[in-house]
Amino acid sequence: MLRLDKILSNMGYGTRKEVKALIKKGAVEIDGKVAQNNNDKVDPNKSTILVNGRKVIYREYIYLMMNKPSGVISATQDNYDQTVVDLLEYEDAVFKPFPVGRLDKDTVGLLLLTNDGELNHRLISPKWHVDKVYYAEINKSVNDKDVEKFKKGIKLDDGYECFPANLEIIESKEEGSKVRVTIHEGKFHQVKRMFESLDKKVIYLKREKFGTIPLDESLEEGEYRELTDEEVKILKKED
Ligand code: URA
Repeated sequence: MLRLDKILSNMGYGTRKEVKALIKKGAVEIDGKVAQNNNDKVDPNKSTILVNGRKVIYREYIYLMMNKPSGVISATQDNYDQTVVDLLEYEDAVFKPFPVGRLDKDTVGLLLLTNDGELNHRLISPKWHVDKVYYAEINKSVNDKDVEKFKKGIKLDDGYECFPANLEIIESKEEGSKVRVTIHEGKFHQVKRMFESLDKKVIYLKREKFGTIPLDESLEEGEYRELTDEEVKILKKED
């Protein structure tokens, strides 16, 4: 059972204050009776709620895919910088989604946001080894020896030994390379630190895939969309 005002504000009918005013006006009905109180407890899955005579379609969770732009923090709040949540429309922000894992401020690409704590936990847990695929540009040439080192497991500066990772060379030149990296974990600055351990620097990083879900390339940086039911189903099965 949830408070009526919480349900309605979660569903985008306004702030708690606005929703309270709606209820006071008599605009809200629960199972055929005009609601009297904003703190009435209602089971939104069982009761029929009408606002101005129109049925409220209730749902608890939201699942979003964003093409994260550079310069924005993967967090819900920050004192200095814009966050990915600041980029959401009010109708989506009311669900209070948070990013699934983190991308660095300068990393772009696929970021999932949800308010489904259980799915979030499963997707970021090292136990499940969900693959993440990144396209990266590196400041130097990348060679087959590097590919081997990635395959064996790179040791990071703090001594942590990474799981074997896949490094695919798209283009390699003295002045810089283009590669694709697949990792199964998500340590802080992981891809950048893996290359640092080879004395190379990542100069551009874009996440292309999370598990088996690819970034929707029709999304411009900063844009997002809801995941389809099919995509959510796939994510719930990822391991
Ligand atoms: N690895 C990094 O170094 N940065 C990211 O944002 C993601 C993976």
